Amino acid sequence: MAKTKSHFICQHCGQESLKWLGRCPGCESWNSFVEEIVREAVQSSGVANSPVLLNSIALTDEARTSTGSFELDRVLGGGIVKGSLVLIGGDPGIGKSTLLLQMVDSASRNDLVLYVSGEESVNQIKLRADRLNISGGKLFLLSETNLTHIADIINQIKPKLVIVDSIQTVYCEDVQSAPGSVSQVRECASRLMRMAKESEIPVFLVGHVTKEGALAGPRVLEHMVDTVLYFEGDRNHTYRILRSVKNRFGATNEIGVFAMGGNGLKEIANPSELFMSMRSGGTAGAVSTCTMEGTRPLVVEVQSLVSSATFGTPRRMATGVDYNRVSMLLAVLDKRVGLHLSQHDVFANLAGGFRVEEPAIDLALIAAIASSFRDKSILPGKILIGEIGLTGEVRGVSQIETRVKEAFKLGFTQCIVPKSNLEQLSSIPKHALIGVTNVQQALATALEG
Ligand code: TYD
Ligand code: MG
Repeated sequence: MAKTKSHFICQHCGQESLKWLGRCPGCESWNSFVEEIVREAVQSSGVANSPVLLNSIALTDEARTSTGSFELDRVLGGGIVKGSLVLIGGDPGIGKSTLLLQMVDSASRNDLVLYVSGEESVNQIKLRADRLNISGGKLFLLSETNLTHIADIINQIKPKLVIVDSIQTVYCEDVQSAPGSVSQVRECASRLMRMAKESEIPVFLVGHVTKEGALAGPRVLEHMVDTVLYFEGDRNHTYRILRSVKNRFGATNEIGVFAMGGNGLKEIANPSELFMSMRSGGTAGAVSTCTMEGTRPLVVEVQSLVSSATFGTPRRMATGVDYNRVSMLLAVLDKRVGLHLSQHDVFANLAGGFRVEEPAIDLALIAAIASSFRDKSILPGKILIGEIGLTGEVRGVSQIETRVKEAFKLGFTQCIVPKSNLEQLSSIPKHALIGVTNVQQALATALEG
C-alpha cells in the first residue's frame, strides 16, 4: 500500500510546508501549522468543454434576482447572480445568520430555498425565525455537516437558493483533516463552487473570521468564490455595515447599512442622516467630513481628544480610522504646523462605530486634533474634505462634487476643499467654498471665528 503523505498547512494564511514550523514564514503567526493528509489529485475523466463564441451565448431569463433587500442588492451589484458563490464573513455574533435568514424570507415566498446550518439545530433556527417574523413558505431547513449528504439533498429538492452556515462546520469524508481546517474548507468550497456552476443554483456561504479579522481558512476561499462580503460593525453599536470586498459581478466597496434591533436587521436607506443625528457639532475636537463608500457619499464626524500625557510615553489611539494615518498626521502637525504633541495623549475616533480608510478624511482628522489641542471649536456649518501629503500639502480627492452636494443637502453651509478640486465644483456657489493648498491654510480657515 502506498505510504500516506502529509504536509503542514498554516491555518491562518494557507502556507504549506513539508515539516512543522513554529512560525509561519508567510503571515508570521506562531504555532499555526497543522498536519494534514495529502490527497492524490483526482484525474478528471469526463468530456472536455469546447470553446463557445461570445455572441452565440444567449442569456436565458433574468440573470439576476432581487434579494428583497435594497441594501443587500446594492452590495451584490444588483441582485443574486445565477450559479454564483457568495461568501459572507464577519465576527461571531455580528448578525450573519440573521441577515441571511431575513434574506431568504422574501426569496422563499416564490422559490424553494434550502438553509443548511451546521451550527444550529432546526428548532433553534425556528425560534429565531419566529422572532424575526419569517413566514418561510418554501424554506427548507437542514441541520447537517456532511457535504455529501447536503449535496444529495440539493439534488433531491432542487432549490433555487442554498445557504450554508457556516463553511467551517461542513466536511468532506474524503479529506481526513478536521472540519474548519484549510484542506477541508478548500475542498468543501470548491465542491460547492462546482455544484453552483453546474446547477446554476446560487450558494451563500458564511465564513468565520480569525482574531486578526481575515476570513478563516482563509485567502484560499476568497480566490475561489465570486463575491466576498464582510459584515462588520461595533458590537456595542446597533449599526452594521455590509461591505463588498470582491465582486465578479459588480463594483466593490459598495456598502449596505443596517441597524440591529429586537426584530432583526433593519435597512438604513440614508446613513448620512443617521450619522448627522449623532453629531456633537460645535464642540472642540469634532469635525465633519464626507467620505465615499462606493457610489454613496457619507457624512461622518471625526472626533479627537488631545490631553496632556500623564506617563512618559504618550498614548495614541485610533478607533474607526487608520492608526498609521493618525501617526502620520501628527508628524505633519509637528513639522509643518509647529503643533508639538509629543507630551500629549491623542485619541481619534469616528462617531457611530463606523470605519473609514479613505485618505479624504485626513483634513478633518488633522483639524479635529488641532481643534482639540487649541480647545477651539469649528463652526458646525463647516465641513472639511481633503487628503494630506507628507509635505503638508492638501491633495485633491475623487468625486468631490458628489461629496459637496451631499454636505449641502444635509445643511452644511461652507466646505473647505482642496484648491485643485475647485475646477470640478463650478456648479456650486463660490461663497460656499474655500479652496486650500496646505495644512496651515486649512487650519487657519477652519479654526478662525
Ligand atoms: P447572529 O446572526 O447569530 O450572528 P452570527 O451568525 O454572525 O454569529 O446574530 C446574533 C446577534 O444578533 C446576537 O448577539 C443577538 C443579536 N440579535 C438581535 O439583537 N436581534 C435579533 O432579532 C436577532 C435575531 C439577533
Ligand atoms: Mg451564525
